[in-house]
Amino acid sequence: MTNTLTPPGRPVGDGAVAVKPDDRLAADKRYKIIEATMRRYGYQGHGLIEALHSAQEAFGYLDDFTLKYITRALRLPPSKVFGVATFYNHFTLKPQGVHTCVVCLGTACYIKGAREVLSAIESGHGVKAGGTTADNQLSLLTARCFGSCALAPVITFDGETIGKVAPQTVAGQIAQRLATSALR
Ligand code: FES
Repeated sequence: MTNTLTPPGRPVGDGAVAVKPDDRLAADKRYKIIEATMRRYGYQGHGLIEALHSAQEAFGYLDDFTLKYITRALRLPPSKVFGVATFYNHFTLKPQGVHTCVVCLGTACYIKGAREVLSAIESGHGVKAGGTTADNQLSLLTARCFGSCALAPVITFDGETIGKVAPQTVAGQIAQRLATSALR
């Protein structure tokens, strides 16, 4: 199978080392969750909406890489998958901010205080879940289960999984990452 996927935000040729698509699929457990949904529908096209829901819940939004992954797995025309993803308001294709933080609100994380973690980020960075800060630096999203429940409560920052976060320190952790990236 020819593999032409390029992870979003890591364009080849700008000096960044591109992650090989299959590495990303293997390394990120969230794809197993989406895979399980598609398997439940026999990898048939009628499972598209559920696959998109599953991806949105796992990642908080649907990036180009994930849409192409679903397109290939269900053997659908890209126009169909992108068409459905853009038609429904429920689906978010791309966070607006330069950086993206996703807070898992799945059961394991919820029990371990994910709601408090989310509140701490909201108040610490002046942004509500689903929104982007006024300076456009940070989009805050929520999702359900990253597949890393043992690390609950879990957030991701620009795709990096950060486990066992605490409401008292999480806003600072994010601020540190934002500051570090601003220096680059
Ligand atoms: S419930 Fe949060 S990673 Fe599974």
